[in-house]
Amino acid sequence: MTEKTLPLLRTIEWKNNKVVMIDQTKLPVELVRVEYSDYLDVANAIKTLIIRGAPAIGVAGAFGLALASLQSKSSTKEQLISDLEIAKKILFETRPTAVNLAWGLEQIMMVAKKGNTVSEIQNLIINTAKQMAEDDIKINMTMGKYGSELFSNNDTIMTHCNAGSLATVAYGTALGVIRATKESGKNIKVIATETRPVQQGSRLTAFELKHDGFDVSLIPDTAVGYSMANKLVNKVVVGADRVLRTGHVYNKIGTYQVALMAKQHGIPFYVAAPLSTFDMKSSPQEVIIEQRKGTEVTQIGDRKTAPDGINVINPAFDMTPPELISGIITEAGVAKPPFEESIKKLFEAKK
Ligand code: MRU
Repeated sequence: MTEKTLPLLRTIEWKNNKVVMIDQTKLPVELVRVEYSDYLDVANAIKTLIIRGAPAIGVAGAFGLALASLQSKSSTKEQLISDLEIAKKILFETRPTAVNLAWGLEQIMMVAKKGNTVSEIQNLIINTAKQMAEDDIKINMTMGKYGSELFSNNDTIMTHCNAGSLATVAYGTALGVIRATKESGKNIKVIATETRPVQQGSRLTAFELKHDGFDVSLIPDTAVGYSMANKLVNKVVVGADRVLRTGHVYNKIGTYQVALMAKQHGIPFYVAAPLSTFDMKSSPQEVIIEQRKGTEVTQIGDRKTAPDGINVINPAFDMTPPELISGIITEAGVAKPPFEESIKKLFEAKK
């Protein structure tokens, strides 16, 4: 498949000085798009999961700053940069765990500071954000090629959460690897976990893979052990919100359990993440795990499924330690254990 023939869901794009995105809270019932011309609406869309997935929110943050630059009433570079700093802070504070958001915002601020006049800066920001969106598709496709070599004909691949078109601009990280494996002519099946509490697996991954003609089965999160013990699955690939230089991987809550179970059953567990998802500075103690509202757990949709007043712990992400990971697929190649060395090499090769 080439970029021209992509029949894929396009999660986010820039059209007529507006940001257009699929409203993922409406899936799988309705496939509708929302259009924003105010960066505060983009911030709200990130916070409320209208758009989600690490690379997608990175691009959303960049487009958010593009809107902020158009909204600014400033007549000087200094005023505009100061307005952009305010917008950057608001966009940054929406979600703390995925590193792509900070990365996207930083890229735009760096470019903005290179411009001289207000209109020059606006154009630079818009063009850079649009380029980031296009690059995201290309990077995913390159990752897909590297990753597909790890998968064989007749594999059944488990994935958790949604790391597909809907979590990126159009192709996907983990699901991009699955796509590329199928495109290389291999016959594969996919098992998607439901991914409670927000159900990105059933609402988004199952929807997306079915939309794109994959053989996909949905399981409750509680059936991961059953599926592995009964040999219904022989490989796992997931995405990531943040990867540390040591190979610690932060991804959707429940990923750690899937990785532990895979280790127990001798099933290779792979992570697919672009280099923009790597955080080469932080240690595990420094990473903030987003805690989300209790109603995500006490309700399914609008229906109450727990008693009033119950105490809830609802972390959105967990950390999978490097010893459970067989390989990390990036656009620069596949890092294998020991990760500290192999990740460093990937970054050196990129320079
Ligand atoms: O809370 P979400 O839906 O934004 O969480 C998304 C995930 O955990 C994905 O697996 C991750 O962002 C990788 S996306 C390519």
